[in-house]
This record gives sequence, structure tokens and C-alpha cells, in this order.
Amino acid sequence: MSLQGRDLLAPLDFSIEEIDMLFREAEGIIASPRDYAEACKGYLLATLFYEPSTRTRFSFEAAMLKLGGQVIGFSEPNASSASKGESIADTIRTVECYSDIAVIRHPKEGAATVAAHVAGIPVINAGDGGHHHPTQTLTDLLTIKRQKGSLGNITVGMCGDLKFGRTVHSLIAALLRYHGVRFVLVSPEELKVPEYVREELKNADYTETQDLAGSMPDLDVLYMTRVQKERFFNEEDYVKLKDRYILDMAKLENAKSDLMIMHPLPRVNEIAPEVDKDSRAMYFPQAKNGMYIRMALIMALLGVTV
Ligand code: NCD
Repeated sequence: MSLQGRDLLAPLDFSIEEIDMLFREAEGIIASPRDYAEACKGYLLATLFYEPSTRTRFSFEAAMLKLGGQVIGFSEPNASSASKGESIADTIRTVECYSDIAVIRHPKEGAATVAAHVAGIPVINAGDGGHHHPTQTLTDLLTIKRQKGSLGNITVGMCGDLKFGRTVHSLIAALLRYHGVRFVLVSPEELKVPEYVREELKNADYTETQDLAGSMPDLDVLYMTRVQKERFFNEEDYVKLKDRYILDMAKLENAKSDLMIMHPLPRVNEIAPEVDKDSRAMYFPQAKNGMYIRMALIMALLGVTV
């Protein structure tokens, strides 16, 4: 079983066994990070970010630097030849002349797939429009597994923008492969999951509701998301929906004592800051796990072992 030379474009690209292998590597890194300090010495990671990012880009860059490798890239397209009209295909062909592995985030669905098609180096999708975000999914799965011990037999609430939220689309697809996962999809009517996701859910145990507080007692995991302002056609619709769900301590009153509150971040208003000190708040540990799983991923795609 080897992931060497592969791309990661969508949440089902790797088998459950391959994902388990990444989890084991990530746990090894968490246990003794110093053993990995030179694992990727001599390798270069390119980060091509055509959309804003804090966690994804920094965690990839931190991951490569902590493995002893180096990083080049841009964090906004105006700083690259994209602003002159260069195609993604030409940009990646150039980038692969200088680097060993590339991470790409782009507002258009399928952009990373186009890049992977022409590139000879591994390409990682760090978010393509409202479509997929598979490394966030690896982060989310690792976080749930570390906390709950396994990925089966859990009830997962997903709340907020289920229409445009790519982290939601990817996480649903990934969790559907595990046994006994139930979904409670909480959103305003306008932001329900797209038809293709509902199709994937057709044989699953799921409910759709607008009632967050009423759903709370059943949940083992609550995955909050921000309303994806940048995917709206007009500001008015966004303003109308943006504060529909705000998780606060009052809403948590009937929640389980071992509920995991997750969020891919950035948060806008969907989780009140008072929740941060509750022991069930997992969103910052989740962000940290993102770096460890990306370290494991980079090593695997480069075929590096320690
Ligand atoms: C998410 C994204 O970019 O889709 N952020 C992230 O990578 N952690 C979620 C979001 O932007 O709302």
C-alpha cells in the first residue's frame, strides 16, 4: 500500500486503509515530532492559493517546514502571472519545474483536477470552489477519531451553509463509508445540501431540519459552518441568512456531555466566543490536527519514510 506519486483531489480518492495509514503516521508525528524534523529535507512544496486562506495554507507550510523541507508559493493570484491571464495548466507546468509537490486552492470547481491532469508531481486540492476540500476532511476525521476512538456509530450534526460549504460536502462523502453514521443536517431552506449530496445520502440515515436547539440532545458531533459569503450572487441574500444559527451556551444546555463541537474555521458569528472555554469546543485542536495530518500526507505522497 503506497500513496507515492498520487494526487489528492476528492475525499474518496484514498481507501479507508490508506487513510488509516495516514492516521498512524500522524499519531507517530504527534508522539515524537523531532524524529520527523529532517524527513523531507531537500524537497520543495509549492502552495498556489487563488483564494484567501489562513489555516490551510499556514498548516501546509508549517507541515513542510517541520519536516525539514522548503516552501514556495503565492497567497493571492494578483501576486502571480494569473493576474496576466496565465492558465492554471501553464502555471502548474512551470511550478513543477521547481518543486516536488503542489497544493492548490481555487474558486472554480475542478481547478485542482485540471492541474493534476497536466502535472507530473503530486497535486493536492486545498479547496475548489463550493465542491471539495479533502485535506480538511482528513483533518476532521482525525479529530473525531482521536476524540471518539473510532469513526463509526456516531450522530453528526452539520449546521449552517450546507449548500456552498465544501468542507461539509467532503466530510459527508467521507463519513458515509463508515458504519452506523447518522446525519442531522441543520440549515435554512435556502442553504440545504445540493442535489448531488442528497443523492449520495440516499441510502443513509439522515434528517434535514431547521431546528438546531431541538436537534442537540442526539448529537455526538456538531460541525458548525460559516455562511459562504463569497459564493453568493447578491449581498442581500447573504445578510438575510448569515446570523441564522449562533451556537451559544444556552443552546448547549441539552447537549451531551461528550459532544464534540467542530468548525473548519474561519468563524464569523456562528459560535459565540463564550463557547470557546467549554471543554467540548474542539475547533482549535482540530486546526492543529490539520498540520499533523498534512505532514503525514506530504510524506506519503513523496514516498518518504523515517
Ligand atoms: C474552509 C474552506 O476554505 O472551505 N476553511 C478552511 O479551509 N479551514 C471553511 C470556510 O472557509 O468557511
